[in-house]
Amino acid sequence: MTFLPKSWFSFLRKNKNISKSSSPNKLDWRPIASLNPDNEFELLEEWASIRSKWGFKSALEIGAYHGKSTIVLAQFFNPVYTIDLWGNIDDGLGEYESIGQTTFTPFIKNVINFKLINKIVPILGTSEVLNHLPKLNVDFIYVDGSHEYDDVRLDLLYSHKHLSDIGVIVIDDYHRRSNDMWLGLQRAVDEFISLYDYRIVDHRLGKLLVARR
Ligand SMILES: C[S@@+](CC[C@H](N)C(=O)[O-])C[C@H]1O[C@@H](n2cnc3c(N)ncnc32)[C@H](O)[C@@H]1O
Repeated sequence: MTFLPKSWFSFLRKNKNISKSSSPNKLDWRPIASLNPDNEFELLEEWASIRSKWGFKSALEIGAYHGKSTIVLAQFFNPVYTIDLWGNIDDGLGEYESIGQTTFTPFIKNVINFKLINKIVPILGTSEVLNHLPKLNVDFIYVDGSHEYDDVRLDLLYSHKHLSDIGVIVIDDYHRRSNDMWLGLQRAVDEFISLYDYRIVDHRLGKLLVARR
């Protein structure tokens, strides 16, 4: 199940002229709450910035939380589709029962404050919705939702069908030397890479950047 909240459409109707122009580069997204440290957002910004200079246009994100990574990506890409349950989180796992009830309000407030609302398409739900959409043809995918094996496997399977020929996928928390707590996530990524013939382009701060061979 998925839907865009009604508040989103009424906000857009009232603010037709907001953020029609392209956003200035390098916004100060640091004060936004997040579960990841700022140096990881700097790395995401670096990867997104380089690829936007190469002509990458659009992005898809799984796992938005308060919108920090969404805002980093929307500096460079338009549109940015972003999928989240925006409900309670238990040990990295989103709870379907509380969908839309907790983090959607700070998310939408942050996106509005940064004047990026017209670039962002929020999708309330799980990556399963991607299985029902026509190809989005996005150039940059960022996977940072549930960290459980079954969910990551589906997040990668459903999202990569929407990747353009030139596109790349970035996966959060793949591997940190000092921390092997996301073994299920690593297994899902390893299986995906070998099954669909992706290659590792970069791997820093636990973030993995892969592209098709
Ligand atoms: C680590 S946070 C994302 C951090 C975010 N990228 C940022 O910039 O701060 C993980 C997010 O994934 C969401 N989530 C967890 N399981 C999910 C699932 N199965 N489908 C969609 N979203 C999920 C949670 O609600 C949470 O907001």
